[in-house]
Amino acid sequence: MPSVKDRFLSMLIKSSDYVSGEAASKALGVSRAAVNSAVMSLRNEGYGIDSATNRGYLLTSKPDRIDPGTLGAILSPERIESVTVLPIVDSTNNYCKDLARKGAPEGTVVISESQTGGKGRRGRSFLSPPGCGIYLSYLLRPKTGIEKISEITCWTAVAVCDAIKEAYGFDSSIKWVNDVLMNRMKICGILTEASVEAESGAIDSCIIGIGINVNEKRSDFPDELSSVASSISIENGGKIFMRSELAAALIKRLDALAAGWPSAHNEYLESYRSYCITPGNRIAAYTTMSGDSPEQTGEAVSIGDDFSLEVRFDGSSGTTSLKSGEVSVRGLYGYT
Ligand code: BTN
Repeated sequence: MPSVKDRFLSMLIKSSDYVSGEAASKALGVSRAAVNSAVMSLRNEGYGIDSATNRGYLLTSKPDRIDPGTLGAILSPERIESVTVLPIVDSTNNYCKDLARKGAPEGTVVISESQTGGKGRRGRSFLSPPGCGIYLSYLLRPKTGIEKISEITCWTAVAVCDAIKEAYGFDSSIKWVNDVLMNRMKICGILTEASVEAESGAIDSCIIGIGINVNEKRSDFPDELSSVASSISIENGGKIFMRSELAAALIKRLDALAAGWPSAHNEYLESYRSYCITPGNRIAAYTTMSGDSPEQTGEAVSIGDDFSLEVRFDGSSGTTSLKSGEVSVRGLYGYT
C-alpha cells in the first residue's frame, strides 16, 4: 500500500482545484495531523503546495522526481503496489531478478533514481547518473522458449517508442535490434535477461531492463559516448522533462506488451518495421560476443517475420537472417 504522503500527492496532482484537508483525511482514512505531516514532507522534497484557509491545498509546482505519488496519479494506487521505487541500487535488473526468484508476479517493476552498476548489452556498463534518466526493470513470465527472447526485446523497443510519443509527443526510431534513437542518436538501451528451466528450456522469468536518457546534459556523457549517446532533453533544446510521466506511460505500454504476448505479434511487427531505420543501410555485423570487431559488411534489406534482420553480405548473392547480435549502421554512431 503506498504511503499517506504518496497517496495525498496523487490526489493533489489529479485535482485542478484546492483539496480540503478534511476531504483528504476522509479519502485517505487518516487523521488531519497525518495530512499536515504529508504536506510538510512534500514541501521538504521540493513540491510547491499552496494552503488557503477554508479551501485547503493546491499543488503549484512539482520537481522532476520519480516517486510512487507521481506515478500513482497517472497509473492507479493498485498498480503502484507492485512498483518499487529506489533512490539508488547496483542494477534494477539484479534487484528485479531477486524479486523474481522470491516468486514476484509478472508486472513487478523496479525503478531507481540512479544505478552504481548499471548493466548494458555485451558486458558493457550503462551510465546511470542520479536524477537524469529512467532506469527501469519489468518482470515478465512469458510462456515461451528462450529462442523468443530477441523478439521480446523488439516488442520492448516498440513499447518505448510508443511511450515517448504518448508522454512527450516526440517521434523516435529503432536501430536493429533494440537501440532507441532520437535524431539518429541513442537515447535508450534495453537489456533483457532470462532465467530458463533447465529441463524444458521454457523461460521462467524474463527481466526487461530499460535505460532512457531523459534530462542528461552533454557534459554528463564521457567523450567516448559523445558521438553515440544523447538525451531527450539535448535533442529538444535543453528542456527539462517530467520523468514520472514517461515512466508511467512506459509501465502502461509494458503491461499491454505482457497482456498481448504472443498473440499481438503482427501488431508489434508492423510497428517495429515502421520504427526501424536499419533496412536500406550499409551495415557491419558483429558476430563475436565481445563485439569489438565487426566481421562482415553488407546491406540491411528488411525485417523478417520473426524480427530478424535480413542482410545481403558483400560477395554473397542471397540474404542471411541475423537473429540477434549487434550491427553498426553506416552514418550512425561515428561509423563511416
Ligand atoms: C544497452 O544499450 O547496452 C542496454 C542498456 C540497458 C540499461 C538498463 S537501465 C535499467 C536496467 N538495469 C540495468 O542494469 N540495465 C538495464
